[in-house]
Amino acid sequence: MMQKTVTGLTGAAEPTDVTVADVMGRPQHQLRRTGHPPLPPPESATLFTGRHITTHTGTVTVTRPATEDDFGAVNMLHDRCSLDSRFSRYQSARRSLSASEWRNLVHPDRGRSWVTHPADSPHLLVASTHLMHTGHDQLAELGILVEDTWQNFGLGTQLARYAITQAHILEVKAITVMTSRDNRRMLRICKNLGAHSPRQDGVTISFTLPVN
Ligand SMILES: CC(C)(COP(=O)(O)OP(=O)(O)OC[C@H]1O[C@@H](n2cnc3c(N)ncnc32)[C@H](O)[C@@H]1OP(=O)(O)O)[C@@H](O)C(=O)NCCC(=O)NCCS
Repeated sequence: MMQKTVTGLTGAAEPTDVTVADVMGRPQHQLRRTGHPPLPPPESATLFTGRHITTHTGTVTVTRPATEDDFGAVNMLHDRCSLDSRFSRYQSARRSLSASEWRNLVHPDRGRSWVTHPADSPHLLVASTHLMHTGHDQLAELGILVEDTWQNFGLGTQLARYAITQAHILEVKAITVMTSRDNRRMLRICKNLGAHSPRQDGVTISFTLPVN
């Protein structure tokens, strides 16, 4: 059976690509008064930094680099997920991550990791996304876990798209996704993103996603 990588993602600081003004849905120029210097960002701006994704139900979420400090909240996310979801993510009956596994996942040498929270609830993590070196040249592995009650609202699709846009940081040319053959949502995401050459090994299937 194919082995799924669990170790090795990163939370290294990245340039913020969405400003508070973006998150609030207003272009910067609307926040400036003619003839005056730009208004300073509100004190809460740091709460809103990161990549914003609006779900199909209209909820704004923020995706930011993961850090070691997210360990507790990320395991609370695992607690709230069904066994099915965790199995689909890890290809094993995993309940949680150990502290050392999480440290590896957020280590910059291992790849890139992000956590996602509702814009108005920064401590509630509803998804984690990992893009990890595989040990094979120019190939990274993508893993996504979206909390059950947040699934099917477009978050997984947008997180996968976002991870692909970040793949150049790892200097990889392709991304592999390993999942079970009956994981219809992930199969659909892979297909929509132009995956090719699926390889099957028992109940597991792996796709290769092109990186632009
Ligand atoms: C797989 C996962 C990441 C997808 O995220 P999501 O937010 O639920 O998915 P989305 O809402 O973006 O939907 C993805 C696609 O699946 C489709 N879909 C949703 N439910 C479906 C179902 N029951 N059957 C078939 N397709 C379905 C959606 O319509 C969408 O396709 P479209 O964009 O062509 O309409 C998420 O469900 C999850 O975390 N699952 C558990 C862990 C896992 O499987 N991780 C992936 C392997 S690493």
